[in-house]
Amino acid sequence: MPNAAQMSEAIHTLTKILQHQKDLGDDKILLQENDLATLRNLPQQFRQQFAARPAIAAASPPVVNAPSQSQGPATTESHPNTPPPTATETTSPNKRDQLNALAREVKADEAYRCLGTLGTTMVFASGNPDARLMLIGEAPGPEEEQDKKPFRGAAGQLLDNILKAMKLTREEIYISNVLKFRPLPSNQQDAAASNRRPSKDEINAGIKYILAEIDVVKPAVIIALGGTAAHSLLETNAPLKDLRQQEHHLKGIPVIVSYHPSYLIHCESISADKYKKEKGEVWRDMKLALQKLEHSARG
Ligand code: URA
Repeated sequence: MPNAAQMSEAIHTLTKILQHQKDLGDDKILLQENDLATLRNLPQQFRQQFAARPAIAAASPPVVNAPSQSQGPATTESHPNTPPPTATETTSPNKRDQLNALAREVKADEAYRCLGTLGTTMVFASGNPDARLMLIGEAPGPEEEQDKKPFRGAAGQLLDNILKAMKLTREEIYISNVLKFRPLPSNQQDAAASNRRPSKDEINAGIKYILAEIDVVKPAVIIALGGTAAHSLLETNAPLKDLRQQEHHLKGIPVIVSYHPSYLIHCESISADKYKKEKGEVWRDMKLALQKLEHSARG
């Protein structure tokens, strides 16, 4: 049976072919009965794949070529139709409904919104609510506000490379942030700058929602990316280097701590050696997370 990535690629290719035919003016396609049967079978195969899928252990370190950090405008427009978390067909309706309800709660939360230090475009989460692996970052930035999805900018591209090396796709996992709104630059001069760290008040306002998301998704393993995620989820101020390469627990779920992709981008700007070293460290963390996933699938 093809794996999830192969099936996802096949569907992507099929979509492209159909779009191409449509662009050429074809509004009908001829399908053989056996092709039709294959297509009908795909959702079922997907469901089985995700339900039974153990984590794939990758052997080589990720190729993480950090792109240069692009700086988007400080978008602060309102959020009329913020999309709910992306859900695949395999998602249980119950989880999807619960996440949608949570997203509505976030939007309506006066305490959160009244801080006055955050953007107004909500970036809730993306990926598969039935995922066994949940990645948690800090907060959206300008690019994420624009797409209304987490990890879209330079850090997101780097994360994609890491996931690729883990033989995982964004569709298989669930990605979220501690904060659902972008911490705005504190003064006009910084307005063009990308991100700032969230304040304690901002984290306090947002933490209950990410904890509620964990309750809904119930992943087998969580990866906390960077200090904000690790410290707020694990309620510690310990240095990141001391938290890495250990198994922590949150609500009984193993939590693996790693550096934030933005940190790797920062390292690359310092020196190639530093980047290589820290990239290797991140890869060690990801391998540990994969091991935990495999372990939980077996047992
Ligand atoms: N950094 C984060 O922590 N989250 C994002 O979504 C983007 C950048």
